[in-house]
Amino acid sequence: MCGIVGAVTGRNVEGILLEGLRRLEYRGYDSAGMAVLSPQGALQRSRAMGKVAALETRLESEPLPGRCGIAHTRWATHGRPSEENAHPHQSGDRLALVHNGIIENHESLRRELQSAGYGFASETDTEVVAHLIDQEFRRGGGLLAAVQRVLARLEGAYALAVLHADEPDTIVGARKGSPLVVGVGIDEAFLGSDPLALLQVTDRFVYLQEGDVVCLSGAGRIDVFDARGETVNRPVQTFEHGDGAASKGDYRHFMLKEIFEQPEVIAATLEGRLGERSVPVESFGPDAETLFERAKQVHIVACGTSFHAGLVARYWLERYAGVPVQVEVASEYRYRTVVVPEGTLFVTLSQSGETADTLAALRFAREQGYLGSVAICNVPGSSLVRESDLTLMTQAGPEIGVASTKAFTTQLAALMLLTLALGRVKGLATETQAELVGALRELPKRVSQVLELDGEIEALSTAFAEKHHALFLGRGAHFPIALEGALKLKEISYIHAEAYPAGELKHGPLALVDSEMPVISVAPNDELLDKLKSNLQEVRARGGELFVFADERVGIEAQEGVHVLCLPHVHDALAPILYTVPLQLLSYHVAVLKGTDVDQPRNLAKSVTVE
Ligand code: G6P
Repeated sequence: MCGIVGAVTGRNVEGILLEGLRRLEYRGYDSAGMAVLSPQGALQRSRAMGKVAALETRLESEPLPGRCGIAHTRWATHGRPSEENAHPHQSGDRLALVHNGIIENHESLRRELQSAGYGFASETDTEVVAHLIDQEFRRGGGLLAAVQRVLARLEGAYALAVLHADEPDTIVGARKGSPLVVGVGIDEAFLGSDPLALLQVTDRFVYLQEGDVVCLSGAGRIDVFDARGETVNRPVQTFEHGDGAASKGDYRHFMLKEIFEQPEVIAATLEGRLGERSVPVESFGPDAETLFERAKQVHIVACGTSFHAGLVARYWLERYAGVPVQVEVASEYRYRTVVVPEGTLFVTLSQSGETADTLAALRFAREQGYLGSVAICNVPGSSLVRESDLTLMTQAGPEIGVASTKAFTTQLAALMLLTLALGRVKGLATETQAELVGALRELPKRVSQVLELDGEIEALSTAFAEKHHALFLGRGAHFPIALEGALKLKEISYIHAEAYPAGELKHGPLALVDSEMPVISVAPNDELLDKLKSNLQEVRARGGELFVFADERVGIEAQEGVHVLCLPHVHDALAPILYTVPLQLLSYHVAVLKGTDVDQPRNLAKSVTVE
């Protein structure tokens, strides 16, 4: 993944680049670095292991003055996290380059460059590109032409930015398979892996297309070329989200802030999309009605937390829209032979809209004879949104914490909208539609009530801080919620957690249950409750400590070894959304107790734009 930022301006760029990197840290934080052309035309570079703050400290004592620069925050793929492997990479002392993505043919290129006399200072695939551009630059024609010639030789995915001391006030950027946007300023121009990185300086952006190359030069000049090298005119678009995202406000962590934003962002996602007693199909665009009428089944593909949202949607779509649904992780889906029955709708779910596997799955699906594609996504203008036939935007606003929270619950809200829209076309009883619409309207209020239980959940978290394992149980549409609860705990507290459908307990995981294995169960008031209660007895009988999140009407009593947290009553179909919230809070508090880096857990990144 990694984050890229670049600036060609009439003022010092160091501060702009640093702020851009801070905003891109969600993409990785193994190292950070910056290269700036000095007013005298020399290439200066600074790099540091770890987070952007370490680079900042270094720059305080050794600043990099200049009006043209590039910077990078890294998520290690080729080569361990180290200062040598940190970007920007140089070829000689005149050319510097930052890269996000993976160059698949780097080994053969490296051998070729070594025999041409190039020495390598890092273990990265990126350094190969720096030397190749240098080699081409020496052949003449300028930096832009050199980059274009080199791109033709690269296999894999990249977003890159390069500068050369012989061409001051110029940055050449390119994208294929990894995101890159151009920020349009007044007499200045910028590059960033996403608009958020550049909102500090502009709200006007050019979204580069696959294969585009861009040349930023002095006085804000921006020239874009397509993959064939033809000049193209890409529209300048104004970014419409606010810039409130970059601040934690009064919260200790972004994750906590984002958990508490859920009532508001769920309401925003539903806003304008709920009719009096049904969901207007047009919420999905003018072509939705025809497409939904023809849809006989649905395939959902996503990664990580978004995949869990897809698993919940399967229960909903089969129950209310009566269509068969298949849900799969994108990294598996894209590499197998897929049988696509006639009339299948392809649905992708993604917070970022840039996840490499999900994007590749969509591109693969386009060749498979699907009826059409729907993306449920949180980032307007993202690749997934641009490449799908229909889109439904979640309104979570920028999510900074690496562990996804509000993006998940807004995806679920959007998926319920999809269920109701498809259900309506497929003849779902009008009474049921009205009942669910009413329940959706109430949902933000119910989520707020759950948030009021934060103190109680924090108190429960102490039981987990010393544990090494945890087991999450759920049944029906709450099995995916158990999966999501376990994922949250793993991601931020580093406690090994597994989730099982409660009925599977007796087929294996029960062997693990003893007093050292806390068992968390989501037990809403649905038709599977009695069965779940017996599963819980099985745990208790083995001395396992139970933590039950249950509907206030369920009547599960707290007793020794059984902790019960009562949640407000909600329509059973929407319970998965509500029950997600206490599990998020539980993981959060456990992580705080353990002292981990909650917003930027080790080894992970927010947006995975590599395979
Ligand atoms: C990364 C993030 C997860 C996220 C997943 C899919 O692994 O750390 O939180 O669920 O990517 O991301 P997407 O943007 O496609 O929802």
